[in-house]
Amino acid sequence: MSETLTITRPDDWHLHLRDGAMLAAVLPETARHFARAIIMPNLVPPVVTGAQAAAYRDRILAALPEGMAFQPLMTLYLTEDTDPEDVAAAAASGLVRAVKLYPAGATTNSASGVSDFDRVRGVLERMAEIGLPLCVHGEVTAADIDIFDRESVFIDRVLDPIRRATPGLRVVMEHITTAGAVDYVRAGGADLGATITTHHLVINRNHILVGGIHPHYYCLPVAKRETHRLALVAAATSGENRFFLGTDSAPHTDALKENACGCAGCFTATNTLSILAEVFEREGALDRLEGFVSRHGPAFYRLPENPDTITLTRGAPVQYPTGIETGDGPVTVFDPGFDLHWRVAP
Ligand code: DOR
Ligand code: ZN
Repeated sequence: MSETLTITRPDDWHLHLRDGAMLAAVLPETARHFARAIIMPNLVPPVVTGAQAAAYRDRILAALPEGMAFQPLMTLYLTEDTDPEDVAAAAASGLVRAVKLYPAGATTNSASGVSDFDRVRGVLERMAEIGLPLCVHGEVTAADIDIFDRESVFIDRVLDPIRRATPGLRVVMEHITTAGAVDYVRAGGADLGATITTHHLVINRNHILVGGIHPHYYCLPVAKRETHRLALVAAATSGENRFFLGTDSAPHTDALKENACGCAGCFTATNTLSILAEVFEREGALDRLEGFVSRHGPAFYRLPENPDTITLTRGAPVQYPTGIETGDGPVTVFDPGFDLHWRVAP
C-alpha cells in the first residue's frame, strides 16, 4: 500500500550554490524539487554589491538545465563598507531579498564579514526602514569561547543588542542549533524568524566524533548534544510559522572534507525532502511538513507561496546516490543513517 502526500512546492531559505563547475553540478539537485532559494553570498570574493548580485544571478540562471524552473533569491554579503543606498536600490528592484551577516572569521569565506558592529549601524537602520531581512550567522568568533557555546554567546553579546538598537529590523537567525536559540526565537516578535537545516534535525555531536572523525557531518554551527537536536525537531514540527527550512546545503569536494583541516558543510540538496518527510513522519507531524518547507518561509519573506505542488510517495526505501560528480571533484551526499521511505514523484 502506498501513501502519498501532496504539498505546495517548497523553497529553501538558505542555500550555497557556489560558482563555476560546482554551481553547474549542484544547482539541478535543488531545482529538481525547490522553486526558489535564498542564495548565500559567501563566494570568493564575496557578493557585496547589487551589481555583483545581478551578475551572480545571471550565472545561476545560465547554469540551469533546459526545462528546469528555479528562481534564485539573491543576498548581499554585509561588510563594514556596505553602502546603505546600494542595498536599498538592490532591494527596491526586487533583485535582493536579504542581507547576510557573517561575523568575521565565523565560517567558510567569512573573512570579509563584520568585526565592528557599530560600522554597519547605518545599513541596518536603512534595512529596518525598508523591511529587508538580515540573515544572521549566529556565532561569535572569539578564541576564548568554546565552539559549542558560540551560538548562545552570540545571542547575548551580539544579536540581542543589535535587535534592541535597531527597532523594526527583520532578522532570520540562520541554521539554529540550540534549545536556547529556539527559546530566543519564540520570545521574539513577528520580526524574528529562524531557519533550521535538515542535517541538524538528524545528527548530534556524537555523529561527528564517535568511532572516528566523520568529516561529512562537520558543519557550522557544529551540531550540539541530543537535547538540542530534540528541541530543533520539536520546533520544526511544531507548526509555528517562525521556523522554516533553510537547508544550508553546502557542497565541498571530498578532497576538501576528508582533509587534515576539513571544510565545514553538509551537502543535503539531493535527499533533503525525503529526509524531512521521514523526520516529520516519526514525530506524527507529516501534516506540518508543508508549513515548514513551503508556507512559513514565504510568509516571513512576504512573498507568495508557489502556485504548483509536489507529491511525495511512501514505499520501499529510496536509494539516493552516495555522491555527485562535479567538475571540481566528487561531493558526498549527506547520509542520514536511516532508510528513506518517501520519494518525490517526478
Ligand atoms: O557548514 C557550513 N558551511 N556553515 C556555514 O556557515 C558555511 C557553509 C559553507 O559555505 O560551506
Ligand atoms: Zn550557510
